[in-house]
Amino acid sequence: MMRTFSLILPAAGVGKRSGLNRPKQYAEIAGEPMLRWTIKAFAQLGECREIVVAIDPEWQAVAEDSVGGISNVRFVEGGRERQDSIRNGLNELEEKVDVILVHDAARPAVSTQLIRRVVERAAESGAAIPAMPIAETVKRVRDNRIVETLPRANLVTAQTPQGFHPDILRRAYAHALETGFVGTDDASLVEALGERVEIVAGEPTNIKVTWPEDVERVEQILGRG
Ligand code: CTP
Ligand code: MG
Repeated sequence: MMRTFSLILPAAGVGKRSGLNRPKQYAEIAGEPMLRWTIKAFAQLGECREIVVAIDPEWQAVAEDSVGGISNVRFVEGGRERQDSIRNGLNELEEKVDVILVHDAARPAVSTQLIRRVVERAAESGAAIPAMPIAETVKRVRDNRIVETLPRANLVTAQTPQGFHPDILRRAYAHALETGFVGTDDASLVEALGERVEIVAGEPTNIKVTWPEDVERVEQILGRG
């Protein structure tokens, strides 16, 4: 059975670290704006019921251009932090679905298989995210000195899309508002509730375009797709 989902796409950042002359989600990647690649990955799936994109209103015209011809997409104003942008998106969702997905606009190379893997696991368990094992050893540092070396075997890096039962995600956002909790991903808000979040396999190609060199990498990935 196909589980239905709604998608919140935070796309209201400025992309400071990318060094580009515009927010990275509007950069042209292999012939199309990054935002278009990202939205298409979800919009082409029959189980996608609605998409809400959080943007900086100053970029509204460019954003609308980027998603021209794709149906069921709406825009909402972003906020100061990523979490604020997603909260605005959450308030805008209307459809009754099995799972709400949150996905970074800056991850345009997400695959259909990964999206479905997250949706299925989230529908079954309540909350699921893709994660990748860590190749390098991770250390906590202060003033250029090592404070602690973390045991690598138990560490993963978190990707998006992250998927949640709608009631769990809404409770997590309400709880974060009450407690003033700010997280760098959505799972951490659910963790703060004490709810279980499950892991599915991420993908090495599902990179979050962050640094200047990532633009070329993701262009290669999408260009050969
Ligand atoms: N984002 C958002 N609202 C914010 C901040 C970020 O919607 N206030 C979005 C970004 O547009 C991006 C995603 O959250 O799609 C992940 O954030 P990140 O990679 O950090 O993007 P930026 O904040 O734009 O980049 P930087 O931190 O380098 O400025
Ligand atoms: Mg940022």
